[in-house]
Amino acid sequence: MKLRKLRSDMKLRGKRVIVRIDANVPIKNGRAVDGPHGRIARSAVHLDWLLQRGARVIVLTHLGRPNGRRSTSLSLKPVAKRLSGLLRFKVRTTRKVVGPEVTQAVGRLKDGELLLLENVRFDRRERENDPVFAEELAALGDLYVNDAFSVCHRAHASIDAITKFLPSYAGPLVIAEENGLSKLDQNVKRPFVLIMGGLKMETKLPVIQRFYNEVDHVLIAGALSTTFFSALGHEVGRSAHDDHLIDLATKELELMKEKLLLPGDVVVSKSLRKDARHHVLLREQVSKSDRIVDIGPRTVQHYISLIREAKTIVWNGPIGYCEVPAFCKATEAIARAIADRTGKATTIVGGGDTGPVLESLGIADKFTHLSTGGGAMLEFMAGKKLPGLEALKQ
Ligand code: 3PG
Repeated sequence: MKLRKLRSDMKLRGKRVIVRIDANVPIKNGRAVDGPHGRIARSAVHLDWLLQRGARVIVLTHLGRPNGRRSTSLSLKPVAKRLSGLLRFKVRTTRKVVGPEVTQAVGRLKDGELLLLENVRFDRRERENDPVFAEELAALGDLYVNDAFSVCHRAHASIDAITKFLPSYAGPLVIAEENGLSKLDQNVKRPFVLIMGGLKMETKLPVIQRFYNEVDHVLIAGALSTTFFSALGHEVGRSAHDDHLIDLATKELELMKEKLLLPGDVVVSKSLRKDARHHVLLREQVSKSDRIVDIGPRTVQHYISLIREAKTIVWNGPIGYCEVPAFCKATEAIARAIADRTGKATTIVGGGDTGPVLESLGIADKFTHLSTGGGAMLEFMAGKKLPGLEALKQ
């Protein structure tokens, strides 16, 4: 079943169009960290398209996980600032998500004007997919567009329940993500290399399992490797890992040993400070006081040699602890190697933390598909049904 799309000949002048975007980006020193290929920047293109057609645009998004409470640090001011820069006018915001003040502000919108509502997760009913809340949101508009692929795995009111009350459509970003990630559904060219980093083993294993028959090599990195090291009985010291999933990792190692590759060497440090001293060890040499912060240079070279042969490459999740630049070296090297392969191979990359790294390297546009999704990308690739997409099917 196909996603419902807005047709370009649809009359939008004077229509109140609610657009759900995902502006959930890191906020640093009061600024939204969002490059030219970031979530907000990519959404702004479509917002501008709607405004040019005379629509009255009402923007919904979440930021962080405020658990249904107002929080100054998660207010959308930095998002409004970023949107203002992109759209080249001052974006107005509301103090609340719904209520008389919001209804009045929407009522004052003229054709081609835009209003950003406050963080939709300040209302606890958002996460409960509450139909009353969804109806209150829907009452603000005439039609609804979901352009927030990266939240489509959440059955939340502004993603799912709202579609019961308004004619609802998929935005261009959602459509592009569906097309990009669906490239893996048929005729995947081999060698096929799957690179999994980051943490959260439970979200990555279903993807590995889904492609296990087609894939040639599964390259494990990030904190995911640490959980596998524990499963092998290695000391992992103070490294981040999924303690409760060690049994599962042991089972998976046995099942997948033919294709699964773990780092042979790692970078360790005693601390996560920016200037922390660090050095390379074999994975068997890690001691109780060490913290694994990156994969080692030999592993990087080995992984890159496999990437250079591949015809399909999928990557999700950072390879090292990228909050500290010195521990992001392997992530950068792997990212560059994948980018270099684009054209000769289909390259699909994503994960919430990956985008900013690619932006900082200036290679965000050097992939067949750069997904804005973290969890949503993984669930889509694992073949799960995403509530946000299901709700938009014809
Ligand atoms: C994301 O950053 O992956 C999306 O914005 C979803 O956020 P969530 O995991 O808090 O639902």
